[in-house]
Amino acid sequence: MQTIKRLVELREAVDALKNGGKRVALVPTMGALHQGHLTLVREAAKHADHVVASIFVNPRQFGPNEDLDAYPRRMAADSALLEAEGVAVLWAPTVDQMYPDGYATNVSVSGVSEVACGAARPGHFDGVATVVCKLFNQVRPDVALFGEKDWQQLAVIRRMARDLDLTLPKTDAIIGVPTVREASGLAMSSRNQYLTAAERDQAAGLSAAMRKAIAAIEGGADVTASLSALNTDILATGFLSVDYADLRDAATLAELATFSGQPARLLVAARMGAARLIDNMGLGGN
Ligand code: PAF
Repeated sequence: MQTIKRLVELREAVDALKNGGKRVALVPTMGALHQGHLTLVREAAKHADHVVASIFVNPRQFGPNEDLDAYPRRMAADSALLEAEGVAVLWAPTVDQMYPDGYATNVSVSGVSEVACGAARPGHFDGVATVVCKLFNQVRPDVALFGEKDWQQLAVIRRMARDLDLTLPKTDAIIGVPTVREASGLAMSSRNQYLTAAERDQAAGLSAAMRKAIAAIEGGADVTASLSALNTDILATGFLSVDYADLRDAATLAELATFSGQPARLLVAARMGAARLIDNMGLGGN
């Protein structure tokens, strides 16, 4: 595996990988890799001849009072994991490479960015869209893979790719990979390490509460009443607060007050100890 920190070298390496019409898949990450990320890499290998993974803790997607400094950085361990998965290139740019002096451009996706996590974390999805647009232009992958754990992020990236007529990867080559969960049901996340052992056990209650709400809604229960019961259930498992627990259209993220089998997603963000955890699950066969 080649570890590359400079754009000029990345371009040469990717051109060499693409030689002879070979396909390249990109797995963008912020590091602190867990099984969820490794699942993305394994899935990527099914769609391309070579996998490029990126590790970049993107300052532009962290708000002023968020965990940018505390965000786990484990380059040596992450690099060993990626190498063992057969990744061809690790793209690990410095902040200066990504945002050189005088950098002034922002990619902002209206609508889908403004609700749920976008409302709770102003500017977050501008930071995500900006860096992912840059990563796409830097690597020009045939296909890119993202975890469905960050459902809203995936929706924002797909909208951006469509709106900006990105050709590599094409919008339909932006692949969402189902959330990887611990045996307890807790969705894997780099931020789970902010939880104590006791909080981790309690946090597992989130997915159980969500499944219960989905069963109720799919069974014809009133959406508002089911979401309110979900809110109560989440707090009862030991979460300090619920940022949101919403039923939304799976693609546009428009709020749904009723459910009649359309592709929909239940999205939740809640705080447990020092962590803000997010999770989502599909309804209507989505
Ligand atoms: O999901 C993440 O890890 C990040 O938001 C991403 C897509 C790598 C952009 O920084």
